[in-house]
Amino acid sequence: MRIAIVGSGYVGLVSGTCFAEMGIKVTCIDTNPEKIERLQNGKVPIYEPELDTLIQKNMRAGRLSFGTDLGAVVNSVDVVFIAVGTPPDEDGGADLSHVLDVAKTFGASVSKYTLLVTKSTVPVGTAAKVRETVERELAARGIEVPFDVASNPEFLKEGNAIKDFMSPDRVIVGIDSERARKLMTRLYRPFLLNNFRVIFMDIPSAEMTKYAANCMLATRISFINDIANLCELVGADIHMVRKGIGSDPRIGSKFLYPGCGYGGSCFPKDVKALIHTAEQRGYRMQVLHAVESVNQQQKRVLFDKLMRYFGGDLTGKRIAMWGVAFKPQTDDIREAPSLVLIDLILRAGGRITVYDPVAMDECRRVVGDKVAYAKDMYEAVVDADALLLVTEWKEFRIPSWPVIERTMRCPALFDGRNIYDKHEFDGTSIVYHYIGG
Ligand code: UDX
Repeated sequence: MRIAIVGSGYVGLVSGTCFAEMGIKVTCIDTNPEKIERLQNGKVPIYEPELDTLIQKNMRAGRLSFGTDLGAVVNSVDVVFIAVGTPPDEDGGADLSHVLDVAKTFGASVSKYTLLVTKSTVPVGTAAKVRETVERELAARGIEVPFDVASNPEFLKEGNAIKDFMSPDRVIVGIDSERARKLMTRLYRPFLLNNFRVIFMDIPSAEMTKYAANCMLATRISFINDIANLCELVGADIHMVRKGIGSDPRIGSKFLYPGCGYGGSCFPKDVKALIHTAEQRGYRMQVLHAVESVNQQQKRVLFDKLMRYFGGDLTGKRIAMWGVAFKPQTDDIREAPSLVLIDLILRAGGRITVYDPVAMDECRRVVGDKVAYAKDMYEAVVDADALLLVTEWKEFRIPSWPVIERTMRCPALFDGRNIYDKHEFDGTSIVYHYIGG
């Protein structure tokens, strides 16, 4: 079986590499020639544990190759996946121009039955648009070629992507033909050893499932953040409340961790996109509007605590920031709470030194020299008036508090991920603040 994956970004590279690892011949395509040249030399443009070794291994085995031209490979593959970006457009919807460009190229060059599958997160109705686009191209060529479209949304988490792809909780496949069902069943058969389910459904439901899942998870986070803020006001302990409600199997304990807000490329974008889809049909997603506004507010919570602590004036204060990435195990800083905090602190006259184990280059690229960069977590806190823990990287979990007490000017710690226990500061000079306390 041979497949092509168009879009060698996060989803495309991980999916392509994992399919190759399962013995399928994969060509990953991208319109960016420099990216493809780097990949051909074994250089991976994103940080994801294990990805580079798997890419190199599968290239050596001749199962994984890279190219810039879908037209050149389309007639030698059984399935083409679309895994290009769908950035938000001006009014919060998903910009489908890259997806439809792939459909155009496909229609302009395909000459035998091929299945065209969208893997990018796309609004309900996109597969239908993809089909129309291909049909228009075929009509322009004056030929008839049989093809099917399908939807196979991706649920992998950054930082855990290979594992998520290799043994997912479920695979969602939207199809409307028996031929497409058979092909997708064959494609995922090697993964069946890992004992998971492929759930087949109609195409709009598959497209909707992806948004509904991400919006549900975002809702849990904003809900627990709201509860944490209220716990602080009424003197309840959010740790206990979280444990207490999470032990009800109807609620469950996962994705119930309060923090300084969700970020990344998925939750913020998908919540906006679903609100937008509903608006287009004259419906208001009231819960999701609240989820979004709680999250925007939540990204400021550490700043508000800082301001209260320093009596409303940060002029000249040195703030150390541990973690810039939107979550651990990634260098991705898109929509990260750290960016909102950096902006607010600088505008309030504070000075910032950041340290992140992996995302320093990304931070330099986006934030530039408005902040200082430390070479390790301890250098970041030297002479600092406050320390903000923004990303819960493992190496921040058990720092040497005596070193911190000695080197900070004023050992005030603001924990944006609630990773420390308030009692570990008993008998120290560290003043500990956390989300909900
Ligand atoms: C998410 C979904 O989990 C994945 O299924 C989907 O395909 C893409 O979007 P990702 O964005 O990589 O994946 O990260 P995830 O680990 O889900 O975290 C998202 C954000 O929520 C992070 O900023 C994280 O810090 C935050 N979060 C997560 C919380 O604040 N509390 C939690 O309990 C869990």
